Amino acid sequence: MRPNADAVPNPTMPNTPIKTIVLSISDSRTEENDESGVTLTELLLTMGAQVVEKIIVSDDLSDLRNTLYVLTDREDVNLIITTGGTGFSARDNTPEATRSVIERDAPGLAEAMRRETYKKTPMAMLSRGVCGIRGKTLIVNLPGSPDAVSECFEVIKPVLQHAVNLLTGETKHK
Ligand code: MTE
Repeated sequence: MRPNADAVPNPTMPNTPIKTIVLSISDSRTEENDESGVTLTELLLTMGAQVVEKIIVSDDLSDLRNTLYVLTDREDVNLIITTGGTGFSARDNTPEATRSVIERDAPGLAEAMRRETYKKTPMAMLSRGVCGIRGKTLIVNLPGSPDAVSECFEVIKPVLQHAVNLLTGETKHK
């Protein structure tokens, strides 16, 4: 059964604002050509999330890891969505960087994205993206192409608000 996009897990509790960093990960992306970062920003704004910042960072593993540490320490951020660097190329370091900073795994999100978008394209199998939690911040890896961003975001969109409520302690029940 598909998740209900309109589900309100606890209507008596106020929702925590979703405060997102869009992190575009690529050696070649610039502000001028970062189509996937723009697509992701628009999708987030459309669902009512705040986009605190959109940042472009290279595929370098240690830069990426440091960036994720700094961003997950920020009080004004509870969601980091990355795009790019999840494939099989030697410079695709996003899953490794994410895994090295998270304290808790959130495999259901990555599993659902691959499972559902595989129905559109078998290429979904080529994303090694992971999802997990550091402190009160959720990190979600999306693949790099704008189409992949849209397809994958559609899958996780229905649960993002509840995920952030849970992380920030606003929701106690399941
Ligand atoms: N997932 C979806 N839903 N749609 C896509 O088009 N492209 C795949 C895959 N995941 C794709 C997708 C391809 S072609 C690659 S190489 C991997 O994501 C990794 O992409 P990345 O290295 O840009 O993150």
